[in-house]
Amino acid sequence: MNNQNTINDIRSKLNIVDIVSEYVPLTKKGQYYWGICPFHNDKNPSMSVDEKRQTYTCWSCHNSGNVFNFVEQIENISFKDALKKLGSRVGIAVEGSSSYNNKYNKYYEIYDLASKYYQLMINTDKGLKAKEYLNNREINNDTIKEFGIGLSLDDKDKLVTYLKEKKYDINTLNDLGLANNDIDTFINRIIFPLDDRNGRIVGFSGRIYDNSKMSKYMNTKETPIFRKGTCLYHYNASKEFVRSEKYVLVMEGFMDVIRASTIGIKNTVALMGTALTEEQISLLKKLSLNVYLCLDGDKPGQDADLHNGELLEKAGLNVKVVCLTSDEDPDSFILKYGEKKFKSLVENASNFSDFKIDNLKKDVNFESDIELSRYVNQVIKEVSEINDEIRCEIILKKLANETNLSYNTLEKKLNEYKSLDNEKRKSVDNNVIGRKDAKKDKYKRASEEFIYYMLINPKAIKVYDSKNLYFIDSDLRALAAEISYYYNEYGKINIADFYSYLNDKKELLNIYNVVQNLNLDENISDVTIMEYVSVIEDYNIKQEIKRLEEVMRKEKDEDTKVEILERIRKLRIGEIEK
Ligand code: UTP
Ligand code: MN
Repeated sequence: MNNQNTINDIRSKLNIVDIVSEYVPLTKKGQYYWGICPFHNDKNPSMSVDEKRQTYTCWSCHNSGNVFNFVEQIENISFKDALKKLGSRVGIAVEGSSSYNNKYNKYYEIYDLASKYYQLMINTDKGLKAKEYLNNREINNDTIKEFGIGLSLDDKDKLVTYLKEKKYDINTLNDLGLANNDIDTFINRIIFPLDDRNGRIVGFSGRIYDNSKMSKYMNTKETPIFRKGTCLYHYNASKEFVRSEKYVLVMEGFMDVIRASTIGIKNTVALMGTALTEEQISLLKKLSLNVYLCLDGDKPGQDADLHNGELLEKAGLNVKVVCLTSDEDPDSFILKYGEKKFKSLVENASNFSDFKIDNLKKDVNFESDIELSRYVNQVIKEVSEINDEIRCEIILKKLANETNLSYNTLEKKLNEYKSLDNEKRKSVDNNVIGRKDAKKDKYKRASEEFIYYMLINPKAIKVYDSKNLYFIDSDLRALAAEISYYYNEYGKINIADFYSYLNDKKELLNIYNVVQNLNLDENISDVTIMEYVSVIEDYNIKQEIKRLEEVMRKEKDEDTKVEILERIRKLRIGEIEK
């Protein structure tokens, strides 16, 4: 078994901030980093990452832990697999076999080989025509390499034969969508590899490049490792660029992403022609809170902007829209109008609310009172959700102008609308806060706080050991016992490492989260430690007296009754230490 020392060694070589930010964008505010919690449907950044302590905590869903707990949950793998995965990053081998990805490893391997094979083919003589097509589209060799673009030849069994030689069986190739009834799936197409969120190739899309009558793009069918709607093209490669640009540009097609890359814009992903799915939204959320929609400029593209924008906003993302001139996609726009124009469009992206309001206006017949009033109400509803007073005023002024209504009337309406929502919100908030606070009494707080200090101050452990301190709550009691045991065994306690120790005592994780999240002042005097002890002991004595009184009431034997009474008396005057 891997001992705590190995586990702690791996953990100490990692920085939880780096690991978490590979999945969730983090922003530093004060002492902590903050991000959207990936473990519940979080709208505001509720998860903090404490770099000093190397722990994360969601203040809303209370998920909390060290780097292993985080990876375990977000990757949905076992503790041991998380340990292996992270161990390999820092060059520490972890004993024992792992189930991590074993099942699919062969599939990834096959796709990797297939992709390399296609890339080789585009560089042969047989690839000249495809190269010419790409070069005509101003895709040069560097870009071809960067995006791993390849070519499937027009023979019917090229890839299949190659992979069979490598001892992969044809059934697997059929299952993986590389072969279809034993012959190559992709024939005579330019191949774009599709990778998953970790950068592993899991599928292909092939484009025709001559005058073929076949459908323009052909994609890998659904397989155990690929489902089109769950991927975003260029996701993994975009990560570092999104982190530095602080937003992600969402485009429709591969060619858009590839073209943008040629002018240095790499914080991009492509939907690959699908409607935005839940999975894609949650992927985007892991990438950045700021999403710029940059879909095609035609009517379907605009409609998709509206629809997708709504979905993304509902998921708590900040949405902007880059509006291209009609009939252009980012690819053709950049080719036609150039880098500067495109970059300025991106810089001037509209807030989604403005984009929506502009769109609302499009279909309104301003001569019709009914349509006009519906339009005004819709705009007011939109404005009520904007948190920027200046922008609200600008929009209302514009609305007043175009409708000939007075600004005051519109403002009044807006406030009416807002106050409705506010009241509801307030009452809900009060309820929640009130209930929470009432629950914690002095004893419980003292117990939790004392145990917190056991984690960070050996003096508290010594007091616990010497006084044989007892906690009525069985979880707190068990946690305190584990802390004391751990300290006596390993000589020190580290809040993040203790999570690993509790891994096979999962029932204690909840209470550990509560305790370690108290975040109390680290400096504590001996006097304060003893004050906790006295609160805890006093309460214990009171409880013990209550219990004894109950026992006595039921007791028939007079001698025993006297005995119990004597114990109660002694407890009252403090002669018996609990
Ligand atoms: P588009 O038709 O807008 O393609 O489809 P495009 O990006 O402009 O490509 P080019 O410029 O003609 O080469 C957008 C996306 O929809 C998917 C592809 O992922 C494409 O990038 N699509 C399109 C398909 O999957 N199959 C198709 O037949 C067409
Ligand atoms: Mn195009």
